[in-house]
Amino acid sequence: MRFLGLLLPLVLIMACSSDVSESLINDIKKEKFKVSSPDGKNQIIFNLEDGVPYYSVNRGEISILAKSRLGFELQDIPDLKDNFKIKSKSYNKHDETWTQVWGEKKNIRDHHNEMRITLQEKSDLERELVIVFRAFDDGIGYRYEFPEQENLQEFNIMDELTEFALTGDHTAWWIGAYQWNRYEYLTRTSPVSQIDTVITPLTMRTDDGLYLSFHEAALVDYSTMTLERVDGLKLYSNIQPWHDGVRVRTQAPSVTPWRTLQIAENPGDLITSYLILNLNESNKIEDTSWIEPAKYVGIWWEMHLDKSTWGSGDRHGATTENAKRYIDFAAKHGIPHVLVEGWNIGWDGEWYADGVVFSFTEAYPDFDLHGVAQYALDNGVRLMGHHETSASVEHYEAQMHDAFQLYEELGVRAVKSGYVGHGQEIFWTDEDGNRNFEWHHGQHMVNHHQRVVELAAQHKISLNVHEGVKDTGLRRTWPNLMTREVARGQEYNAWGWGEEGVWDGNSNPPNHVLLLPFTRNLAGPFDYTPGVVDLLFDEYRPDNRVNHTLAKELALYVVIYSPLHMAADLPQNYEARPDAFQFIKDVPVDWYDTKVLHASVGEYVTIVRKDRNSEDWYLGSITDEEPRSFSTNLEFLTEGVTYLAQIYRDSEDANWDTNPYGFVIEEIEVRAGDEFPLELAPGGGMAVRFTPID
Ligand code: NOJ
Repeated sequence: MRFLGLLLPLVLIMACSSDVSESLINDIKKEKFKVSSPDGKNQIIFNLEDGVPYYSVNRGEISILAKSRLGFELQDIPDLKDNFKIKSKSYNKHDETWTQVWGEKKNIRDHHNEMRITLQEKSDLERELVIVFRAFDDGIGYRYEFPEQENLQEFNIMDELTEFALTGDHTAWWIGAYQWNRYEYLTRTSPVSQIDTVITPLTMRTDDGLYLSFHEAALVDYSTMTLERVDGLKLYSNIQPWHDGVRVRTQAPSVTPWRTLQIAENPGDLITSYLILNLNESNKIEDTSWIEPAKYVGIWWEMHLDKSTWGSGDRHGATTENAKRYIDFAAKHGIPHVLVEGWNIGWDGEWYADGVVFSFTEAYPDFDLHGVAQYALDNGVRLMGHHETSASVEHYEAQMHDAFQLYEELGVRAVKSGYVGHGQEIFWTDEDGNRNFEWHHGQHMVNHHQRVVELAAQHKISLNVHEGVKDTGLRRTWPNLMTREVARGQEYNAWGWGEEGVWDGNSNPPNHVLLLPFTRNLAGPFDYTPGVVDLLFDEYRPDNRVNHTLAKELALYVVIYSPLHMAADLPQNYEARPDAFQFIKDVPVDWYDTKVLHASVGEYVTIVRKDRNSEDWYLGSITDEEPRSFSTNLEFLTEGVTYLAQIYRDSEDANWDTNPYGFVIEEIEVRAGDEFPLELAPGGGMAVRFTPID
């Protein structure tokens, strides 16, 4: 579109002989500017109408977003929403391939066209607002920039007016925002016209068969965007407010997060879209040698099963002896990290009600922290640290420098953190001694998490954040921010409940993990903690269970991406099932490439990934309660090479409900182009390792 500025005088002088040039001139008069993706399919149109900024989005002939408003309402100073003129505009093309430190794909292409519009107020203040649009083949993104300027210094945003005017009552997969249990809910399915205010990623299917996912990228020093349906099919960016109603406290110069819309012709292409990462800044950590994608085991599931306790006493899980047992197990099976929860003082009583009880440096008397950490190092593994804050952030911040220092001294390279607490429970004390309560996903917490990730990097520590802020691709900039939970994971299978209108049983329903790849996982890695092989655990929690077959549980290691993946079950359960455990030991967590072979939101998905450190490929295929038969011709394998396929599949009579352990392991030789059948039982799955043998 760079040509537009150059050709404009020429176009105006020339007689307008064709419809095309007439519409071009009309567009220019109405101050309408466009940018298209490199393949020409996705188009963003910016439009200044009577001084008010709008944009719309098309894919080919299809209108995806109709005219949608842009701008801000500010506190105590004039808004930045109308009375604008266009000061300048520029266009840019970008095509670069960059390498992830770790990830689901090693090399990622960032290919987009950019349009930058600088707006200036017509009033005396003459304040400027820049809107940068990027069009990619897999969607679009845009953000606002507040440039440095005399008449805009520190200011408060009372409302971001960004709209997404949908053009149809699409099917939406969603979770409501502003709920007490944060993001840990089951995903609902309904027409968009039935949603109220929801979290992102928000995924949709249009009647034209397109798949859309709305989210944001690079959430830094700003508050989380939720989407509120207003006015029929229009969504508006409802930014989570501070306690006093201010949405964002900021200053010029600054930028907002990118508002993103991924567009795909099939749902699998949403999974292999790297648009969110492409809109984040490149890596800021120079030496990344200490950042290690890895599996871990730990003293964790046994507390969720109520076999042992976080708190001290007879049933204390985090004892020196028990930790050494896990370390021996990890060392024997080549699993690099051992998580220990409940070693530090504070877990007695109602720790989840207020985290001020926690010490992050003092151990219970039955846990020899230094001795256990050294025992781990002597055996070639490391402790994974744990900081449960119960969302008492002030209390944690007062100790976290010492806490990270201690872990670094103990050879710890990864810390799991936790922010259990009500969605709006986080407080901070202001100068007058008032306790102000904030949302889990507001700017207060976004900034807290940023402080933690930067502090952790100084101590060469990677993070696995539970109950944190949703992922917006910051792992590209801070690759030590490796994984997070921020969704309903495996632990709900131990003690969770259903939700009215979605699932009336306990635990997660069989289709839960069929929704995650197309919703939560589009944001980034998820510490789901797969690998429970004792699916029924009647001895501990008879009302709950894992609602999968064993083969499906294994397939989750490939389907759900995380660079830190847990082998969640108890060592004794793995020792009783060495057949299934072999796959968990073999499967890598860092990938050269990812492809999606079959996909239907909430129903089934087959993903293949190539190991980053070998020529092996892995396949994971899972289904909801329906049995499925698929075929693939293995075209992802290297031609001319014979592979050994180690197949972990459902038996003919397997069924998630009645026969979850129906399980077969077999080995066959295959080559690229071979027909390879996949038979999945109801609630079942299949996991395969392909290793070259010649
Ligand atoms: C909730 C986390 O998701 C879980 O993994 C952890 O065990 C508990 N909090 C205690 O920190």
